[in-house]
Amino acid sequence: MNIALRYYSRSGNTKKVADIISEEIAIRPYTIETPIDENIDKLFIGGAIYAGNFSKKLRNYIDTIPSDLVKKVYIFSTSGFNKNSNYKMKEEFMKKGIEVSEIDFFCKGRKVNEKEEINQMKEFAKKAMEE
Ligand SMILES: Cc1cc2nc3c(=O)[nH]c(=O)nc-3n(C[C@H](O)[C@H](O)[C@H](O)COP(=O)(O)O)c2cc1C
Repeated sequence: MNIALRYYSRSGNTKKVADIISEEIAIRPYTIETPIDENIDKLFIGGAIYAGNFSKKLRNYIDTIPSDLVKKVYIFSTSGFNKNSNYKMKEEFMKKGIEVSEIDFFCKGRKVNEKEEINQMKEFAKKAMEE
């Protein structure tokens, strides 16, 4: 099974989540500088909210993902307040006809180093792999 992870993070919060997930499932995290150019069974993808929406760079990256290469997407995000970014990212993938799992992860950016949140990140990764 081919598993991949991509993320966009300006100030490091989403990177922290990406690193924990990647460590949990023993893959390498890559930023959105790295294109998707091979078949992927499970794609973990993460971003954050800036000025009310998830990053335009990440939206543009999602546009470049070939729909026929990715089977299923697992979304994670951080933000100051709520999980909006997950819903917005989900919409982008659904428009492309790429399946999005109900299993997702969100935490507030300022909590990414807290033990409880770190356990939830690991739990998210485990559940996604078991699905
Ligand atoms: C310029 C800027 C704008 C932001 N705007 C929002 C916002 O509109 N809503 C929100 O919930 N959080 C907002 N935040 C908080 C970020 O979503 C949060 O800190 C997130 O964890 C940043 O992720 P990153 O460290 O991976 O870049 C903003 C942060 C920055 C730096």
